Amino acid sequence: MAHTGRVLVIGANGQLGVELTDALVDRYGQDRVIPSDITASDRENFVTLDVLNVEQLKDIVKENQVSDVYLLAALLSARGEQNPMWAWRINMDGLLNVLELVREGLVRKIFWPSSIAVFGQTTPKVNTPQETIISPETMYGITKLAGERLCAYYSKKFNADVRSLRYPGLVGHRALPGGGTTDYAVDIYHKAVAGEVYHCFLMANTRLPFLYMSDAVRATLELMQAPSDQITVYSSYNLMGFSTTPAEITASIQQHIPGFTIEYEPDFRQQIADSWPESIDDQQAREDWGWQAKIGLNEMTWDMLTNLEKRQATLVK
Ligand SMILES: NC(=O)c1ccc[n+]([C@@H]2O[C@H](COP(=O)([O-])OP(=O)(O)OC[C@H]3O[C@@H](n4cnc5c(N)ncnc54)[C@H](O)[C@@H]3O)[C@@H](O)[C@H]2O)c1
Repeated sequence: MAHTGRVLVIGANGQLGVELTDALVDRYGQDRVIPSDITASDRENFVTLDVLNVEQLKDIVKENQVSDVYLLAALLSARGEQNPMWAWRINMDGLLNVLELVREGLVRKIFWPSSIAVFGQTTPKVNTPQETIISPETMYGITKLAGERLCAYYSKKFNADVRSLRYPGLVGHRALPGGGTTDYAVDIYHKAVAGEVYHCFLMANTRLPFLYMSDAVRATLELMQAPSDQITVYSSYNLMGFSTTPAEITASIQQHIPGFTIEYEPDFRQQIADSWPESIDDQQAREDWGWQAKIGLNEMTWDMLTNLEKRQATLVK
């Protein structure tokens, strides 16, 4: 079926939203993409929207003839631990408000991201399978688990087209991260380019799965464009880029900036990271809709440093 409606991005000012919105504009044209967020922006077609405000949400959907919604608004793991009730409200009520749009026939398709935060201490840590023990230990992870079950429920019960990915830590140069446990892997490049020491909130050998932003955006578009008969996971697909540690990222930066140094000062986020997997088995995504990551650690380092250095040079001029 031809895609005729507009695309609404909720949380478009965030780390993922900024880049996903650009990719959607490239694909569908400026006219067909409505970026929205609770914070302001001067982006074309931008509307201010609090996803907790159901009336406002419905008005925007109707006025703009929205057919597809990308719901990215969330409170992430570290900020969620500092304000668990707020995390529950944004992450759960926001999702329910959007799921209800599809049940009421106001939109046809939804994308909503889950996270590796659904896993916990008792989950196998290496090559974590698609179907496994899911016992999150943070409020963020609990909301992602409940969210996955809601996506599967709406798909089955109401025949809703809801698609989801369990992103690992996302790294990109366009926007600063919003308060997650893998934020260090973005911050470290900013400090390296600024010529500063990086004080890392995780220990040197904390191994976690990551995905570079270009791969995350491509995965999202590929999943949303896959024919519905290729989708077999209605909760959320495992997704993997590469697995790395603060020490390995440091070594990779030092290949370009030999004087760069890091100091380890773990805080409460260490405990969150310790409850997450080291690597993820994304075989199901590969089989169902042909997923394959392209960017590894050294490609990521090169791209992050090149782009951040370019930006710094523009600022200095
Ligand atoms: N960044 C990662 O490493 C990562 C990893 C796994 C999953 N995810 C998921 O991807 C999605 C996007 O993450 P991100 O990194 O871009 O997050 P972010 O924190 O950078 O952005 C979230 C955006 O949502 C907006 N927002 C907050 N409350 C809102 C509300 N009530 N109404 C409308 N907008 C609101 C914020 O202003 C912000 O711009 C989230 O669901 C997150 O859980 C991210």
